[in-house]
Amino acid sequence: MTSMIEFISVTKRYPNGVEALKNTNLRIEKGEFVFLVGSSGAGKTTILKLLYRELLPTKGTIKVSGRDVVKLKKREVPFFRRKMGLVFQDYRLLADRTVYENVAFALRVIETPNREIKKRVMESLDLVGLKEKTKALPTELSGGEQQRISLARAIVNQPAVILADEPTGNLDPDTSIDIVNLLRVINLRGSTVIMATHDQEIVDRLRKRVVEVEGGSIIRDQLKGGYRHEA
Ligand SMILES: Nc1ncnc2c1ncn2[C@@H]1O[C@H](COP(=O)(O)OP(=O)(O)O)[C@@H](O)[C@H]1O
Ligand SMILES: [Mg+2]
Repeated sequence: MTSMIEFISVTKRYPNGVEALKNTNLRIEKGEFVFLVGSSGAGKTTILKLLYRELLPTKGTIKVSGRDVVKLKKREVPFFRRKMGLVFQDYRLLADRTVYENVAFALRVIETPNREIKKRVMESLDLVGLKEKTKALPTELSGGEQQRISLARAIVNQPAVILADEPTGNLDPDTSIDIVNLLRVINLRGSTVIMATHDQEIVDRLRKRVVEVEGGSIIRDQLKGGYRHEA
């Protein structure tokens, strides 16, 4: 059976010569919840960007649901990305649109009928507990609420994979737990989740698969791992 995600001998060298990823192999199965940990500059964001085809590898093969990401044609990339939900540390909501429109945006692009949009948007907002905020603008929300909206936006297309890059990086510990608990719910509903994080408390608490990156190499891959390697 094909894996949800496969990195085969992947190297990424940036134009300045930095090798952010070195001959890396990684396999993630459908339905997994994976923490990507490692110090700043280790290569976590590079791995995620390669997965959503923001970057192309210098060498190697990357597959998502059996699709060779490197071989995607330019015009296929937007369709490919719709199968993924992306979550960022800084939320990246559209500042001049309401909560409803932020979540609906991805569905409008693919010309979904209005009734269907409404149903899906409200289901997503309900899941993150912010059904009452449809008319609010992002600036009227707390950081935690903005991140919940970005989660609603990420799941509205029912993606196979959620990629979250330090989603709790700007949040206090309690709010961080709320966000990660939502990611767990999303995972249980069927999306594979990959979350890059520095948050030791969360990783230690959840005991999920931990992939540790250092200097562009995977130095640990542990089921039910903690933030740091225990002997
Ligand atoms: N656009 C870029 N151009 C050049 N070097 C980069 C670029 N993006 C990241 N790097 C370098 O690649 C390495 C890995 O970065 P990154 O993947 O962002 O790490 P992390 O997310 O783990 O902090 C670092 O040395 C970083 O400085
Ligand atoms: Mg990063």
